[in-house]
Amino acid sequence: MKAELPVLDPPERLLCGPGPTNVDPSVLEAMDRPMLGHLDPDFHDILLDVVDLLRRVYRAPEGIVMALHCTGTAGMETGVANLLEPGDKAIVAQAGFFGGRIAEIARRHGAEVVDVTAGWGEIVPKERLIETLDEHPDARLLAVVHAETSTGAEYPLAELSEAMAGRPTLLMADCVTSLAGVPLDIGGWGVDFAYSCTQKCLAAPPGMSPIAVSERAVERLRARKTPVPFSFDLLLLERYWIERPAAYHHTAPILSIYALHEALCRVLAEGLEERWARHAEAAAYLRGELAARDLPLLADPEHQLAPLTAVRVPEGTDGDAVQKRILRDHGIEVGGGLGPSAPAMWRIGLMGRNATPETADRVLAALDAAVAEEGTLAGRAAG
Ligand SMILES: Cc1ncc(COP(=O)(O)O)c(C=O)c1O
Repeated sequence: MKAELPVLDPPERLLCGPGPTNVDPSVLEAMDRPMLGHLDPDFHDILLDVVDLLRRVYRAPEGIVMALHCTGTAGMETGVANLLEPGDKAIVAQAGFFGGRIAEIARRHGAEVVDVTAGWGEIVPKERLIETLDEHPDARLLAVVHAETSTGAEYPLAELSEAMAGRPTLLMADCVTSLAGVPLDIGGWGVDFAYSCTQKCLAAPPGMSPIAVSERAVERLRARKTPVPFSFDLLLLERYWIERPAAYHHTAPILSIYALHEALCRVLAEGLEERWARHAEAAAYLRGELAARDLPLLADPEHQLAPLTAVRVPEGTDGDAVQKRILRDHGIEVGGGLGPSAPAMWRIGLMGRNATPETADRVLAALDAAVAEEGTLAGRAAG
């Protein structure tokens, strides 16, 4: 007798945590188009279209632009592995979980890491980074997180890159939660390596990491003394994604690339600036409503990020229980604190198609109900 097979039947969720966000229906439909092989010249034309679309979304007309077959973390690791060689010095700004992850990855690749830290919700002031650069002029790389999803803080990347102008140190920026959600101008600002993901403000499924590499960073790659791990060697990947005839490197995730193609078209059809403005307006609405409820935010208000708002859990409230109730009773995902040292928080993401006041209202209604219910339970337990 054949064993009974499990049924794939995931529940509907409104994804308003730190990502992934809900995928646009047209993006899902794109994945239903005819499969091509990864060595089909028609597919190679699609790759070049994706490169062109990505250049416009990153605003990176020069250098190498493509989408890696990996997650945001592996995009981060690709930057480190390509731009640093063992023994190289890297300055890493850390004010939350993902800055710490860059530092850890750089150490694992044999780099000498100079940590420059600030508290959760703060940013490392650019003056401190410039002082650190003055103390370590031999640093090969300076890395910052443009949009720190673990705290909801946005790094003033344009100001930092301006302050670094003329220095030989390359600038790497984590744009995982900023690409297509907040103003970003990789070419204009002179960022040397930017990496992102597909599952946040692009509103595509997770699993790819769009990157943009400046020309001077490409020169650095060409001058390396030691080889880069094969899977993430950017110069080999360029031969498949951009040079023609394309040289086989790996079997590309064809359907994910269709999805990315469609997601990028959705961004450009809306208008990049219009999309940034929509994320900003939805976030401003959410912040107003949270303030009306006396719920304080984690991030320094001057550096509040639009796509992700971190709310401090009020004293006496079980943040975890509220988060679970929002998921179970309302079918809405919000995030909690990330990592062992994170303060208690709820992380509300309004990204991609979810960046609207209507979505914010749905999250707020669920939050109000869950907080009231948990409060009642706690009151009953105490009484
Ligand atoms: C700022 C930031 N960097 C890196 C990552 C890692 O991306 P992934 O989970 O796709 O590996 C995330 C994921 O949330 C992120 O928010």
